[in-house]
Amino acid sequence: MKTEVRKQFAKHFGQDKGSVYASPGRVNLIGEHTDYNGGFVFPGAIDKGMIAEIRPNGTDKVKAYAIDLDESVEFGLTEADAPKEQWARYIFGVCREMNKRGVDVKGFDTAFSGDVPLGAGMSSSAALESTYAFAINELFGENKIDKFELAKVGQATEHNYVGVNCGIMDQFASIFGKEGSLIRLDCRSLEYEYFPFDPKGYKLVLLDSVVKHELASSAYNKRRESCETAVAAIQKKHPNVEFLRDCTMEMLNEAKADINDEDYMRSEYVIEEIQRVLDVSDALKKGDYETVGQKMYETHHGMSKLYEVSCDELDYLNDCAKKCGVTGSRVMGGGFGGCTINLVKDELYSDFITTTKKAFKDKFGKEPKVYDVVIGDGARKLA
Ligand code: GLA
Repeated sequence: MKTEVRKQFAKHFGQDKGSVYASPGRVNLIGEHTDYNGGFVFPGAIDKGMIAEIRPNGTDKVKAYAIDLDESVEFGLTEADAPKEQWARYIFGVCREMNKRGVDVKGFDTAFSGDVPLGAGMSSSAALESTYAFAINELFGENKIDKFELAKVGQATEHNYVGVNCGIMDQFASIFGKEGSLIRLDCRSLEYEYFPFDPKGYKLVLLDSVVKHELASSAYNKRRESCETAVAAIQKKHPNVEFLRDCTMEMLNEAKADINDEDYMRSEYVIEEIQRVLDVSDALKKGDYETVGQKMYETHHGMSKLYEVSCDELDYLNDCAKKCGVTGSRVMGGGFGGCTINLVKDELYSDFITTTKKAFKDKFGKEPKVYDVVIGDGARKLA
């Protein structure tokens, strides 16, 4: 991919070489919709992501070429110059957010390409944001912005330029990823711990429902609002509560009269999910993958029935996993489409994949895509 990016950059912007940067997408073992509730998540960077070549061009304009879409866009660096194209808004947003943090971002030429499937719940957008945040920090900011803030630049880009009120998980994983390790992150304090992940005898595999979740941002924002509304009701009696992270089911039940049924269900899921991440951490330390898997199924159930971010295709993939004796399976990421993540014993792997592909095709007329998970490094300079 790097060679192709170099080639396309030279074709569009001339032979003078720029610098090349890469950032990955992510998986998440467990802890979904917990990040913006101040809770825990368990992501890892993957071996798929975005690569960009960038060269300052001495002007105040950015000229960007999206190789995979074969589209070029030019934009300036002030708020008034925001591009209309969605993909270019990510780059523009990162420039603006870096600027707000004191980096004097100047014009540059850039071409980029990616191999994270778009809209599949593997955070292609975080990969794009992290690539440019990392690059701009180095090219225009003398690396004065630390890695935590770089992750927040990506998150703020989503909030302020894309319209998704996301948490910090995806950008954090994309910046802090480490080959072979998952990261347990406390999304309130941003304390994190690397967990070497090499489950002997098991594979981690994603099955992509090929339902794109691209139009899900308003539903995502609505879930977040439900959580915040519930917190506001709980705060009446417990003023020190800041997030659902601070709440028990008892506290939620005390406030039940002030919380509508939907917001109650959403909050119940989140409170339980935060605990599941802690349970999985303990189980992983003991090498107890049966418990890890059981928690994954519980998460799927909660995401499907309480948080209501699954869909028929994902529920079906989850059922197939159960029938095939897969240790753990659940919808991964924000939901509304995308992938299930599956923890499967080596000896069941090929039967699971073959059976599920066929059954899914018979039911929905298309095959799910299969991605074996390889845990890779976070944002970096390649050349
Ligand atoms: C999306 C968001 C994350 C997180 C997940 C759900 O990926 O970008 O911040 O909320 O959904 O866990």
